Amino acid sequence: MSEKTVLVTGACGEIGQALVQGLAKRGGYRIVTTDLLPPAEAIQPLTSEHVQGDLVYRVKQFYDYDFDIIFHLAASLSSKAEVATEEAHRINVEGTMQLLMLAAYKSAKRGRAVQFLFPSSIAAYGFSSLEEKHRAGRVKEDDYNTPHTMYGCNKLYCEKLGIYYSRYYGQRHLDPDPPVMCDFRAIRFPGLISAYTVPSGGTSDYGPEMLHHAAQGLPYACFVREDTQISFMAMPDAIKAIFMLMDAPREQLTRQVYNITAFSLTAADFRKRALAAFPSAQITFQPNPRRQGIVDSWPEDVDDSAARRDWGWQPDYDVDRFFEEYFLPEIRKRYKNVRARTNE
Ligand code: SER
Repeated sequence: MSEKTVLVTGACGEIGQALVQGLAKRGGYRIVTTDLLPPAEAIQPLTSEHVQGDLVYRVKQFYDYDFDIIFHLAASLSSKAEVATEEAHRINVEGTMQLLMLAAYKSAKRGRAVQFLFPSSIAAYGFSSLEEKHRAGRVKEDDYNTPHTMYGCNKLYCEKLGIYYSRYYGQRHLDPDPPVMCDFRAIRFPGLISAYTVPSGGTSDYGPEMLHHAAQGLPYACFVREDTQISFMAMPDAIKAIFMLMDAPREQLTRQVYNITAFSLTAADFRKRALAAFPSAQITFQPNPRRQGIVDSWPEDVDDSAARRDWGWQPDYDVDRFFEEYFLPEIRKRYKNVRARTNE
């Protein structure tokens, strides 16, 4: 099989680093990466070329490449996007639009669809009240699509843009001999937790932050209430899902945007689990009204039956396996020296 050329944007972010490592492990890919930052240590030896800079101004240069797959991960996450809203719109929407135009152009030109993999989010949902959130329970993809955040609006709109460019662009699908369009596929991720990296600028960050602080023996003041509940997933499952959706035959897909989930926990559950593993952890709750409002607008769980049915989605890590077989063993190794200093 010949090598595929892929572009990973936002490659130094949490998903980016894990994805580049996953692609390298699979083999058969020439990996081009881009990010505002220079290549992270974990990906530097794996990337064949790294383009540093603002994606919006860099896309032109990517017209010289012949990408088979674009993984567009670059984004300003939900908490950060509320502080710099216009900048978030520029990064999240303009960057996506530019890359979709590239994918559409290249697909038509070479007569073969460029795959476009897009991480969307539970932020695409929005509830008018906590009561509505509790009543809704596990939500389906097309329900409650009324996001409260700039990030959520951006993600939902980019899903629509992706569908537009891959199906209806210029209404050319109605031509007698329509051009090949790009192959847009999106996953709405829950909060993601990695044992190797910590998120920044997101609102589901309280989960990973609490666990990483506890593992290092550092106190943590959680910025949401104890009863706050959303779904989460281990980073290896997120990467597995991207590969599963990417590999699925197009005719098997009944949608272009899919929910996935692994487990749903309250912030109090996180604390309980953290204390069971690290008994001297100091975890308090100091809700921040703005960030609380964001998480209150997100579903406590999602219905991922379409992904299970269409491409066989199933997480490897339920909540017990997540802690026992992934997070705790890895994090203990990672912070061994820190913990030795704090004597735990
Ligand atoms: N994890 C993201 C955030 O908190 C949601 O997709 O912004």
